[in-house]
Amino acid sequence: MSEKLQNINLNKVPNHIAIIMDGNGRWAKQQGMKRVFGHRNALTAVREAVAAASDIGSKFITLYAFSTENWNRPKLEVDALMSLLVTSLKKEVPEFQKNGIKVNSIGNIEQLPKKAREVLKEVIEKTSNNSTITLTFALSYGSREEIVNAIKNISKKVVNNEIEIKKISEKIINNHLYTFNLPDVDLMIRTSGEQRISNFLLWQMAYAELYFTEVLWPDFRKEHLFDAIIDYQNRERRFGKTSEQIDANA
Ligand code: IPE
Ligand code: IPE
Ligand code: MG
Repeated sequence: MSEKLQNINLNKVPNHIAIIMDGNGRWAKQQGMKRVFGHRNALTAVREAVAAASDIGSKFITLYAFSTENWNRPKLEVDALMSLLVTSLKKEVPEFQKNGIKVNSIGNIEQLPKKAREVLKEVIEKTSNNSTITLTFALSYGSREEIVNAIKNISKKVVNNEIEIKKISEKIINNHLYTFNLPDVDLMIRTSGEQRISNFLLWQMAYAELYFTEVLWPDFRKEHLFDAIIDYQNRERRFGKTSEQIDANA
């Protein structure tokens, strides 16, 4: 067992971990290789992150795999990412089943190539009865687009008299986001040293703890996730209250 794992309080783990998997291109470049080489070497990191989250008992892990803005990358890279998505998802099904991983997705899935959409749908269906951890892939995901969609859908219901304006609440907005079936994010990790959110889960991260590491995504291993958890556990989440109030309720 990992020494780091022993330092983790299993009664205080983040229920929902979100990761911005960044740095594949730089990782490849460091080795004199093309960017796509980095993407191809990202799968081990994905496996390790999900396994580590599962080891500590987190119930949700959400991985930012492709943003709405990533469509603006060179076509060759976008195509490579889409075909990697298809091959990796297919290849991982036995692992998902063995480890009780329920696959889910958020984002504008309609924008993905047909093949990717089909494979994703199939994997989501096949793993739908798994219950150890929910693994959500954010694909063609943008938080602003998600919020715009939610507003459109809520507005339609207002126009059709299905929702009264005065009844619009945080809960109703939550229910119209791609993440309607996911809890708020507790811990957001970003690799590669960049300290920004890049249009990821803006609403859902309102009270998340943010953790940044210099590790480039293809190098990310269980130990790195455990480091983030230990850091998270040394923080006090106050949700606007005072430290004294938190202590009193502990
Ligand atoms: C993250 O790595 C993967 C995706 C965004 C798809 P990058 O491809 O952004 O790698 P860097 O940031 O250029 O190093
Ligand atoms: C964010 O990474 C998107 C994913 C990890 C999928 P980017 O590399 O696209 O983010 P920016 O553009 O550097 O902020
Ligand atoms: Mg990047």
